[in-house]
Order: sequence, then structure tokens, then C-alpha cells
Amino acid sequence: MNEDKLISLLHEMTIDEKIHQLIQLATFFYEGASDKGEITGPLGDMGISKEVVNNSGSVLGASGAKEVINIQKQHLKNNRLGIPLLIMADIVHGFKTIFPVPLAIGCSWDLELAEKSAEIAAKEAAVSGVHVTFAPMVDLVRDPRWGRVMESTGEDPYLNGVFAEAFVRGFQGSNLTNEKYRVAACVKHFAAYGAPEGGRDYNTVDMSERQLRESYLPAYKAALDAGCEMVMTAFNTVDGIPATGNKKLMRDLLRDEWGFDGVLISDWGAVKELIPHGVAKDEQEAALKAIRAGLDIEMMTACYAKNLRTLMEKGEISESLIDESVFRILQLKQKLGLFENPYRDANEAEEKEIIMSEAHRETAYSLATKSCVLLKNENILPLQPQQKIALIGPFADNGDILGQWSWHGSRDDAVTFQEGLKSKVADNNLLVAQGCEVESINAAQLDEALSVANQADVIVLALGERSEMSGEAGSRADIRLPEAQLKLVDQLSKLNKRIVTVLINGRPLDLHGVVEKSDAILEAWFPGTEGGRAVADLLYGDVNPSGRLTMSFPHTVGQVPVYYNHFNTGRPQGAEDAQIRYVSQYLDIPNEPLYPFGFGLSYTTFSYHNATLSANTLSRDGDLTASITVKNEGDMAGEELVQLYVRDVVGEVVRPLKELKAFEKVTLQPGEERVVHFTLTEDQLKYYHADLTYISDPGEFSVYIGPNSQDVTELSFELVD
Ligand code: GLC
Repeated sequence: MNEDKLISLLHEMTIDEKIHQLIQLATFFYEGASDKGEITGPLGDMGISKEVVNNSGSVLGASGAKEVINIQKQHLKNNRLGIPLLIMADIVHGFKTIFPVPLAIGCSWDLELAEKSAEIAAKEAAVSGVHVTFAPMVDLVRDPRWGRVMESTGEDPYLNGVFAEAFVRGFQGSNLTNEKYRVAACVKHFAAYGAPEGGRDYNTVDMSERQLRESYLPAYKAALDAGCEMVMTAFNTVDGIPATGNKKLMRDLLRDEWGFDGVLISDWGAVKELIPHGVAKDEQEAALKAIRAGLDIEMMTACYAKNLRTLMEKGEISESLIDESVFRILQLKQKLGLFENPYRDANEAEEKEIIMSEAHRETAYSLATKSCVLLKNENILPLQPQQKIALIGPFADNGDILGQWSWHGSRDDAVTFQEGLKSKVADNNLLVAQGCEVESINAAQLDEALSVANQADVIVLALGERSEMSGEAGSRADIRLPEAQLKLVDQLSKLNKRIVTVLINGRPLDLHGVVEKSDAILEAWFPGTEGGRAVADLLYGDVNPSGRLTMSFPHTVGQVPVYYNHFNTGRPQGAEDAQIRYVSQYLDIPNEPLYPFGFGLSYTTFSYHNATLSANTLSRDGDLTASITVKNEGDMAGEELVQLYVRDVVGEVVRPLKELKAFEKVTLQPGEERVVHFTLTEDQLKYYHADLTYISDPGEFSVYIGPNSQDVTELSFELVD
């Protein structure tokens, strides 16, 4: 259907049909859905009629070709003009083949594999009838108390941006209309949802516009520059106004400044939440503020459906404001080819052959091996097949390794650690005991664990959080492992056996009680469907760990927020003329995190030398090459992530001590060395000045190159006009 026909379709629609096109409902309301309920039931208390459902524009949560085809078929029968539904769902890190959680994918620093994971997720979702995914989530995060850090790729704006682009490319491909097995992406949560006070989900976000633009907005912009079709508004306030009713954020910035003309959808219930936020007295005012702010689709509340017509009749809004939103939704349906084929790629036969294919699982395995981060290793890893292993912990044989936002996947499909390790050691060399539950322990469990550990050469602990202890509404004020697990570690450590700890978690943890009692720590995050196989291959050295942290691990929650790209302050700790006491420091812990951004160990060692710059000055229209030689000094091949950071030594406003500007992964054989080159341009030196102009300043810049954000070689140059 071309543009002209869309316009004539819009003109054929009654005002009620237009208004109802703006509501998104769960499958519960639709004939043909597996969970079809009564509109009068609890979910149905939204006060909507069958007519609203028949005219609705999109449904969320549908999946499975059979169910989607049924819902769409019924809907087309009930919809006067035969306007098809958009089928939307949360496909964040996999559909049925579940990949590591995005925070883990971030630690792979592997943009190609990230894109591949999104492409596979899109393919499995598309044959299951999904048209749009509510992903990528690109919220920058600095507070591990917040449960949804597991959904982000971390604390760096640049890195989050390149991952956002990769995910959008994977989901959408290069031509959403003509390419099969692709879904439209919806970047979320606009904006700065990752900065709630106290790390408490849905809490207030309040920051300067400069901080917002400098740190929190770049990744959304990167997703949109990559062609992302939709944006989802966040639950939180931005500068005192809830994002979902924030005209400055949506109309002025997103639409006018950035030129985004795609569909804007609220998060679940966020329009009606303008009332508890205290910026709307009732649903009618909530509808007024949201539509004036530019929101197109209202997810799972009915403020629009019940009030927009009245608001129009009262003259508070024009029909053209409604038309604007309806037309964007019709355009997205057109782009997805739904008017010609309302079922798009839904196909039961293809579902069977495509979903969870060996190739998909292999990609999940590869990404999991690259996402795990070796945090500590005191000559215990890699393990040897002849060693007798005691695998102990609540995650020893547990399928809860997929992480939140993996609804369509199944824990039964997950390769557990026990299953992974079985392929590494002879049966009689692998002893297993649960040792405790995730959050409780009893004497029998502890006794069994001690007994099994006593028979082993090495104890491998599988500890961590349940999926639901992170993710949405998964904030924790105490980010240590649960007491039960700390007790298990403490008791086992008294046996004086070597201990390797594998962590299953959705956030950086306070590792007190674990780090000092473990000879090695492998951070596995929620590694996904192939997690057990990936971890086993890493523990035995079939794969050399290469993951690097994209979010800092604090010493303790009292240190939060702690992140690498911080300012120097006027009293930096450790400065040459610094006083002992009166500097910015803690009396009880270091300022630096336990494990910094970019950190991760390998089974080999790499040396860095011969760092050079191609010149001492950089002109505005020129470029500069930074080079360094990296050598594999060990006897095992390995992947090294060479990172380049820049510091603007003197700015008009304070500037971070380091900002990631480039990185390169190099695979080196034992003894092999490689010269790695990075190109710098003036564009990478721009920042938001006091008046928010985005420009660079001439002057001195430091360049830091190294294996993480702390152990770096420093160079410097001058930007000249
Ligand atoms: C949730 C989440 C959002 C998700 C939406 C639909 O509340 O905040 O990320 O896409 O609802 O499930």
C-alpha cells in the first residue's frame, strides 16, 4: 500500500477508529489468543469495550505462529477497514535460543556476534509471528543496585552506542520491508531510565541537561541513526517531568532536534502513571499531556481510548494531533508489508526447523564464551581433566542461567554447569552437591557439600542470583551474595582446598566473602542456553577467556556509583601536592573499584610497548594515529582487547579523566606481537559546553592505551585551530 492509499485509509477511519489505533493491549483481550480472558476480568478493568479491542492497533506478548495467525485472522474479521495488528514482544537477548544477558554481551566487546545474536533472535521471533521487538535497551548504567543493569551493555556512552547500532542492524537488517526474518526494533527506555536515585527501579531521575546529553542520550541517538523504527518512553522523570508526558524530551529533542519520525510507544501503563507522578489529576489530563508531548501508542492503559474524543470535542486537542500518531502507526505497518501480508513471516513449519537450530545454539555458545570475564586466577585455571572436581552450589545443576527477559526461552533447554563439566572429566572425577539453595542453607546440604569437597582436588563453586533477583523491579540494596551462599563458601574454605568460583548474576556484586576465599573467579553473568557448555570449555582452557568488564565492580555498595569516566574533583586522591586527609577519598576503602571498566584476565599474558603518536598536534580537519605494540608473552593463544581512552586536560566544563574512544580485539599466538593503530579526529574531542554547544576546544589532550581503564600507557598531543 503506498503513501496515497495510506492517506485515504486515514481519511476513511472514524475518529473512534483512529483513537483506538493508539492503544496497545496484551494478548488476553484477543480472540485466538492462548490466554484469552474476559474483558470484565481484572485485566479487563481498564474500562474498554470490545469495539476498542476490534479497532486497536497493536498487541504485545503474542508469539507462536499458530497463535499470532489466529489473533490476526480474528482481528481482521472484526476490524471494519481490515487494518492489521502490529505484533510486538520483548525479544531482548534471544527468542527461544537465549543468548547471554546484554550486560554479558557487552563484556564480549564483540559487535559482530552481538549483531548476529540479534539477527538470530529476529529470525526465530519472525517465524513465530512477531513484527516488533522492544529492544535494544540502551540505558547507561552506573548503579548495580538497579536490577536492570543486566539489560544494558554498561557504563560507557560510546560503547553502548556501537552496541545499540549492532543490535538494531541485527534485528532490522538493511531493508525491513523486503528482508525476511527481520523485526522492527524499539530502542528503550527514553530517557535515562538507568539513573534512578538509590538504584531503586522506577525512582526519580534528576540530572543536568549536559550530563543527560553527554552520557545518557548518545546510545539512543546511535540506535536511531542506525534506523531504529520505534522508541519506548521511560517510567521515570527527566528534569521533573515524567518522560511519557515530557514535550521537551519527545517533541523538541527527539522529533525536532533529532528528526525522529517513527513511532513512540509508552512503557507499560506509563501514561496513566502520570497521575501518581503528580502531573495529571486524572486519566483525561494524562491523555492530554501524553498526546501533546508526542506519544503515539499507549501501552496497556486506556487514557487515550477513553478521553481523546472528549478532549477533541472540548477543543483541547485537534484531530490532526491524533492523525499524526495514527499515520505513523499505519506507516510502520506499511513498511512491514502488513497490508499485503498481515502474517508477515509467521510460519509453523519454518518454526520447527529454524528455532533452536544447532547453528543458533552454536552462536549462543560462542557469545557465552566471549562474554564471561576472568576476574581472578591464582594459578588454578585452566583445570586439568585428571583432577577430581567437586562442583558445589545452587547453580551446579540449575537451568536458571538465562536471566530475565528470556520469557520465550526455556530453562529446560539450558545446558547446566554439571552437564557442561560432565563432558570434561570422567564420571568418577566429577562429584556434585548443591550445598545450599540460592537464599537458604541447612545442615544436611552443608554436610553433603563438605563430604563431597573433602574427596576432591579442586572445588568449583557455582554461586549467584536467581534471574528474578535482577531485571525489572529487581533492585537490591545489599549486592553481596546471599548469606546462605557466603556461609557455604566460608565453611568450604576451611578445608584448605583450591576453590574456583563461577558467578551467575545480573549485576556487578560486592564480592566480600567470596573474592578472598576463591583462588579464581569466573564471572559468567547469565550466560544463556549454552552457558554450561561455554563455562566448562573456559574452565578447562579449550577456550581462553577474553571478556572485559563494561561495568565496574565496586568494593562495596557504599562506593556506588563508581565508574571509570568520572571527574577529577578539586581534591583528587594521590595528587602530588595532595594532603593526607583532606582529599576526595573514603577512610575505609580505595576510591578505585575492585575491578575496573575494561578489566579481564586471560590464561596468557600480554605486554604493551612502543606507544607512539604520528604527530604531537592535531588540526581540526586532520587526523592522528596512535599506535602500540602488543605481544603475547605466554604459551597459549589468546584474544586481547586493546583500549584507547582520551582526556581533555582543560575544558570549559570539567571533563572525565578518561573517555573510551576506540578499541580493537587482537588474537595473538604465543610469542606473536602486533602493532595496533587507532585513528583520532577532532570530532571525537567534542563535548557539551556550558551553553550546551557541542564543540571541541584547542589545547592539550592525553591519550591512554592499554588492556583496561587503569593499566594504561600515556601519550599526549595538542589540538590546534
Ligand atoms: C516492561 C518494561 C519494558 C517492556 C514492557 C513490555 O514494564 O519496562 O522494558 O518492554 O514492559 O513488556
